[in-house]
Amino acid sequence: MEVTLKIQRFDPEKDRKPYYREYVVDVEPTDRVLDALHLIKWYQDGTLTFRRSCAHGVCGSDTMRINGRNQLACKALIKDLGSYITVEPMLGFPIIKDLVVDLEPFFEKYRAIRPYLINNDPPPVTERLQSPEQRARFDDTTKCILCAACTTACPPFWANGRWLGPAALVNAHRFIFDSRDQGAQERLNIINSNEGVWRCRTVFNCTDACPRGIKVTEAIEQLKRALLVRRT
Ligand code: SF4
Ligand code: FES
Repeated sequence: MEVTLKIQRFDPEKDRKPYYREYVVDVEPTDRVLDALHLIKWYQDGTLTFRRSCAHGVCGSDTMRINGRNQLACKALIKDLGSYITVEPMLGFPIIKDLVVDLEPFFEKYRAIRPYLINNDPPPVTERLQSPEQRARFDDTTKCILCAACTTACPPFWANGRWLGPAALVNAHRFIFDSRDQGAQERLNIINSNEGVWRCRTVFNCTDACPRGIKVTEAIEQLKRALLVRRT
């Protein structure tokens, strides 16, 4: 089938502001938007710039706004999008070129919540044991691939770049509720501010945007409850 992709282009070294350019490609309905972008880049316009790595929904590097919604280009099927598809970069971060945004502010927030196991006990001889129930407590948030779809779909994030954002909170949740970790209180202190969990307005855009199906808003609510319980 013939599909038109209307793609936002911007080269800060040459352009004063972003503009749109249309490309017509011949694709199968079961092709992904990433396949169409490859056809454009390889056969029509080598200057088109986008990120991708795994091409299988694992690395989280090709999030973009497709028909106005954050999606991974490698998971978005042409047949679900129609024959006229708009492709734009994620909102809220500076554009480096075309569909590539500067994710350093995103990873700065991620690093701020100390996303690694904190445990000062001497390492055990074998693994640190955990019951299935303890593992289940944070299973959902282990699925995060740091694609930034949730954070850049969040209206409070567009309005306030200082807000930690859903992705950092999902990863705080992943460790705070891990029975092997000893850094929960430290992380709860980090997220207990107007730029932390309390900035969340329960819009649910993050949950809708997550390509891994993580219950992002619910995870943030669990963090709020953990803070409220700590106060009492
Ligand atoms: Fe992406 Fe979901 Fe992780 Fe947010 S929670 S960064 S949408 S995988
Ligand atoms: Fe890795 Fe799409 S290219 S998630």
